[in-house]
Amino acid sequence: MGGIDYLVTGAQGQLGRAVMALLQRRGLGAVGVDVQEMPLEQRAAIQAVVAAQRPRCVLHLGAITNVDGCEAEPLLACRVNGLATAWIAEAAAAAGAGLAYVSTDFVFDGRSAGVPYPVDAAPNPLSVYGLSKRLGEEAVLAHGRADFYVVRTSWVFGPGGRNFPRAILDRARSGQPLKVVTDQVGRPTMTLDLAEALVDLAEARAPGGIYHAANEGQCSWHQFAGDILRAAGLGDVVVGTQTAADHAAALVAAGKPPPAARPAWSVLDTGKLAAVRGRPLPDYRDALRRHLELDRAAAAAGDAAAGGPLRGKQYG
Ligand SMILES: NC(=O)c1ccc[n+]([C@@H]2O[C@H](COP(=O)([O-])OP(=O)(O)OC[C@H]3O[C@@H](n4cnc5c(N)ncnc54)[C@H](OP(=O)(O)O)[C@@H]3O)[C@@H](O)[C@H]2O)c1
Repeated sequence: MGGIDYLVTGAQGQLGRAVMALLQRRGLGAVGVDVQEMPLEQRAAIQAVVAAQRPRCVLHLGAITNVDGCEAEPLLACRVNGLATAWIAEAAAAAGAGLAYVSTDFVFDGRSAGVPYPVDAAPNPLSVYGLSKRLGEEAVLAHGRADFYVVRTSWVFGPGGRNFPRAILDRARSGQPLKVVTDQVGRPTMTLDLAEALVDLAEARAPGGIYHAANEGQCSWHQFAGDILRAAGLGDVVVGTQTAADHAAALVAAGKPPPAARPAWSVLDTGKLAAVRGRPLPDYRDALRRHLELDRAAAAAGDAAAGGPLRGKQYG
């Protein structure tokens, strides 16, 4: 007798909740785990959970996602994001399960001169977070298995998450001045679209290896802030501009630690995934409209997730 279809790590996170809801809608059996059920620091816990659940596939989303926080705790970041992924890959291989590991555009240095990053571009992370996720990628790819995937994504937002749209709207509604960097360009990605892509990939039994999954389109954080305000009907709020260097200098001047270095350009080439699925993910502006509608509906229904505990700490 087989076990469950999917074991999902980071199931209570921003992406994890979208993935769990999708698996349920598709009638696929799933068990979601987080730090309580399967602390990623503990190899024995990982081995025990995977062996007990006997999943067909592990969707590994759990990670320390606080990009600036990772700079302060590099060993913990590398253990949870890198080493734990090696343990999950080892346990999945031993159980004969597939594995899809969600990674990040922050494995790149942003120096690709305006060309979207293909899946085989050479990683060169600038931050501890990027390095820790790259360690995880290497651990997954080292198995060379046909059912092991590294799925890189970027600038994730979704209903109920603490993410860039929410931060911008909170600031705008409280009347605080907005200053957003102009010199970082990437692809915003909605959790619901990413969840579909992730599960499609695993269900299609696509060839193993690296895939890039992001909504179509590209923008700077400054442009994205403008898109968010317009979509929310707050288009008259002024968004000031700032360079990443000025932002870092302002933090240091205020006695705060400098932020982690982020790639100035991290547009992912998603062609390989689009070929497998027969279509790209929707445009990020379409995703943003759906996201805001869902957030509004949840707020109107008094859903705790809409204004409740903030999940996720990374805006890209
Ligand atoms: N957010 C982005 O913009 C972005 C961009 C590119 C890639 N990604 C990747 O996408 C994946 C999902 O991100 P997300 O936005 O959903 O992040 P998230 O909301 O922060 O969720 C991460 C989940 O991992 C759990 N976790 C953290 N440390 C753990 C530990 N030691 N043991 C067990 N579970 C632990 C968290 O639990 P707690 O909340 O209890 O700590 C949380 O449920 C991550 O792998 C991330 O690296 C995210």
